[in-house]
Amino acid sequence: MNVPANSSSIKVWDSIIRIGHWLLVIGFFTNYIMEDEVMSLHVWIGYSIVAIVLFRVLWGVIGTEHARFGDFVRSPSTVARYLGDLFRGRAKHYLGHNPAGGIMILLLLACMTALAFSGIVLYALEENAGPLAGWVIEAGEGGAQAIWSADEHFWEETHEVLVNVMLGLVIIHVLGVVISSRLHRENLVRAMFTGRKPVR
Ligand code: HEM
Repeated sequence: MNVPANSSSIKVWDSIIRIGHWLLVIGFFTNYIMEDEVMSLHVWIGYSIVAIVLFRVLWGVIGTEHARFGDFVRSPSTVARYLGDLFRGRAKHYLGHNPAGGIMILLLLACMTALAFSGIVLYALEENAGPLAGWVIEAGEGGAQAIWSADEHFWEETHEVLVNVMLGLVIIHVLGVVISSRLHRENLVRAMFTGRKPVR
């Protein structure tokens, strides 16, 4: 654990976690607000999100102590117990992510991945561009090299539904951060900027 002598705070989040987190936030909300007004920007932000999520998954295996999945992914019973304790106002304090936060992180990463994938399929169908161009074609159309015929309307709907699921998850995520910060009298948002938490 990284606790310098005579320090009143402790390093919890490395710079990869912090920069990756705020880039995901900026990327998601930029694409949400701008939609596909500037298609090339929308697509490149989408690719960047995929790269950040993939790197985060790798970092979850080889990264620093509290970045690793092993540090914060707990069994469903531990999560249920934690949530029960949270409602009773006596949830245990965790230096890294708490068990409920751990599940939320997996959901956020999975939903971001699904959202980006649906966007890539749609880009191939609508613009015949992107990594799946030529591989995916509109159902009913012929294509020599195509290996998958997909329904454009279905993928449009899927992309939109996933945006809203993502938004719902983000709202719950931020509520969780606020509740946990109040319960344990610590500023989790500040910690996501500085990387440090007060020593208890
Ligand atoms: C698109 C929006 C967002 C996404 C995709 C997202 C995703 C994530 C992810 C993946 C983590 C885990 C960090 C890691 O270990 O890599 C996390 C943690 C965190 N996020 Fe977000 N987040 C979003 C929005 C926000 C917003 C708006 C805030 C604050 C206002 C916020 C505050 C935090 C905090 C404080 C943590 C650390 C929680 C803890 O201490 O356990 N997030 N977020």
